Amino acid sequence: MKDIKIESTLTVFDNLDELPQDVFHLMEKAIVARQKAYAPYSKFSVGAAILLDNDQIVTGNNQENASYPSGLCAERTAIYYAGAQFPDVKILKMALTAGSRIQQTITPIPPCGACRQAIAEYEVKQESPIEIYFMGETGKVVKSNSLANLLPLVFDKSML
Ligand code: THU
Repeated sequence: MKDIKIESTLTVFDNLDELPQDVFHLMEKAIVARQKAYAPYSKFSVGAAILLDNDQIVTGNNQENASYPSGLCAERTAIYYAGAQFPDVKILKMALTAGSRIQQTITPIPPCGACRQAIAEYEVKQESPIEIYFMGETGKVVKSNSLANLLPLVFDKSML
């Protein structure tokens, strides 16, 4: 018997101004997307912006539904659109921002487990890492160099 240790290193930027120019621009697009979220039930809006290897930016936001489980998170709305429109173009970076209409969100909000699994699918498919940047409405921005850092022991196609 032995233990295994799983470690991830993330980078924390103190605010938006510390971000590299291209990521700042990407996060601005995510903020605009967040402001257009359809979140009448949770009042929690999430925006996602994806930078593709052809320089295109694809955005998405959460889309809720009166039948709650039928709604979809921002990350999957965006990444499925990217997958549908640009199936052969690599995803380089993803910027995420979340905010509540009930209270101010300054904590960086990471993607939920289901979205991590969905993003992992594309990282495995394209055989190159996707950088993930996530924040609340304001405040610190956390960077992960790849989705794999956020989802150790991922279930992927190699196990099927
Ligand atoms: N949500 C996202 O869009 N992304 C996440 O990673 C976490 C949760 C949405 C789903 C739902 O519309 C609202 O936030 C509250 O859970």
